[in-house]
Amino acid sequence: MYVCICKAVNETAIKKAVSEGVSNFRDLSSRTGCGTQCGSCVKLAREVMDQALFEAGSPRSDVKLEMVSFG
Ligand code: FES
Repeated sequence: MYVCICKAVNETAIKKAVSEGVSNFRDLSSRTGCGTQCGSCVKLAREVMDQALFEAGSPRSDVKLEMVSFG
């Protein structure tokens, strides 16, 4: 299924990019061109990338861990 029509980026291309080390949307975008034209694909592309990262055992790109200390 095409995720980004403008740049002809499909799910397979996103999963391949993740398997080759892409772990955030900026890198995905610069590598594939995804989201660089009309931008309407960004939300879906992030979801596909996050799913691929999850399946690869990597943390989601939009989740930042923060240390909290009590007392
Ligand atoms: S659909 Fe991806 S930039 Fe237009």
